[in-house]
Amino acid sequence: MLEQEIETKEKEILVDRQGEVLTGASPHKLSKSFYIESYGCAMNFSDSEIVASILNKEGYGPTKEMDQADLVLINTCSIREKAEDTIRQRLTVFNKAKRENKKLVIGVLGCMAERLKTKLMEEEKLVDLVVGPDAYRELPGLVNAALTGQKGINVLLSREETYDDITPLRLESNGVLAYISIMRGCDNMCSFCVVPFTRGRERSRNAFTIVAEAQDVFDRGYKEVTLLGQNVDSYRWENPETGAAVSFAELLVMVAEVNPKLRVRFSTSHPKDITDEVLYAIRDHHNICNYIHLPAQSGNSRILKLMNRTYDRPWYEAKINRIYELIPDCTISSDIITGFCTETEEEHQDTIDLIKWSKFILSYMFYYSERPGTMAARKYEDDIPYETKKRRLAEIVDVQREESRQSNLKDIGRTYEVLVEGNSKKSDLQFKGKTGRFKMVIFDKIPGVLPGDYVMVKIESCNSATLFGHITKKID
Ligand code: 5AD
Ligand code: SF4
Repeated sequence: MLEQEIETKEKEILVDRQGEVLTGASPHKLSKSFYIESYGCAMNFSDSEIVASILNKEGYGPTKEMDQADLVLINTCSIREKAEDTIRQRLTVFNKAKRENKKLVIGVLGCMAERLKTKLMEEEKLVDLVVGPDAYRELPGLVNAALTGQKGINVLLSREETYDDITPLRLESNGVLAYISIMRGCDNMCSFCVVPFTRGRERSRNAFTIVAEAQDVFDRGYKEVTLLGQNVDSYRWENPETGAAVSFAELLVMVAEVNPKLRVRFSTSHPKDITDEVLYAIRDHHNICNYIHLPAQSGNSRILKLMNRTYDRPWYEAKINRIYELIPDCTISSDIITGFCTETEEEHQDTIDLIKWSKFILSYMFYYSERPGTMAARKYEDDIPYETKKRRLAEIVDVQREESRQSNLKDIGRTYEVLVEGNSKKSDLQFKGKTGRFKMVIFDKIPGVLPGDYVMVKIESCNSATLFGHITKKID
């Protein structure tokens, strides 16, 4: 390594108050510290890294110990009622810490900010700061306001904010996988979903800053990026200088071209928007992973119409067929909501049938939770009893588990390229990593192989969630 390079690398490595090494942290002195908890989707975790970067520039370093922090933040999720309940419980815990340390500032960030600002701040007096997803640049000023006893609040949504120019400070990172936000908001208006209200209108980030961020993480040793957005297939960025537009398929290729050793994933796709061009990009680039998260939500056309998903069952099936036709090796996963308003037993069976038919390798499954302000809350009665919702959820979970197991059984005897992510949860003698097809693999360590390496792993056994195998060779 050149001397100059060594110097830059050293500058980038900073140690927080607990001795944790943080990559990309500000080289100036950190006089104060913040503690942040994140809930909900990958997008929220990625936002917390933007918040961390903004605070870092103002002299705040991250800490993993709440009781040592000057500022405690919770990045919240509103997608289901249960997520909101969890956050209230955490706020009560933070307030106990505040009784010990009167100067502690407690802030709520993210999706609950807009919905519950008055309640949390004025009625329940649980927080000093409320900052919505588009107002994070204001955070340092609002913290200062809170320190002088004023209430710091900004929940305005923006049509432009994409935080293009902010290099996230990677928190909780294993140094191998990085998440890059490519767009914000959602214009889809699925009837059950609160996201368009909490995160506002859809806007795409400058393609060049996305590619630069991918290059930057690769240069720091990361080997996989996941491009994040509520609906990545509707990504479209117009270059203000040339007027030329970049589509999602084009962006995927631009990121894949950063380096063949950088794996590229993306989430989430909408069945109505994913194009053949995206499928060609996956097919034609070894480092764009053969895996698509394509939420179906339901297997029944009437329910899909009530959900305002804008496709029906035959359309979804045609999409799946097209994916398997162009990329026979591709794996697909889904999100499913069970017990949506008026869903009958037969319609529930349609969802079970879709899970089997589509051969999803996994699904994230939920029972319907009515969210205030959504189209479903305004138009339909939440009429499926809680017990029925829970029973239907248990049924689809069982069906999916069996599908996952069947899919994993087919992998036994095959050999896959796996990116080593780190130690397995259960043993320091074993590594975990994923195949390009998004299957988790556990295998014994061998000398000379480290996290961030690519290895070939022969699969020997499995359960419904994991493959087990051994390294046959390291890929240089
Ligand atoms: N109730 C239950 N699940 C929901 N989701 C979104 N809104 C709701 C809701 N009101 C699920 C959808 C979405 C995933 C992120 O969360 O399946 O794809
Ligand atoms: Fe919500 Fe639908 Fe947008 Fe996903 S696509 S965030 S489910 S409105």
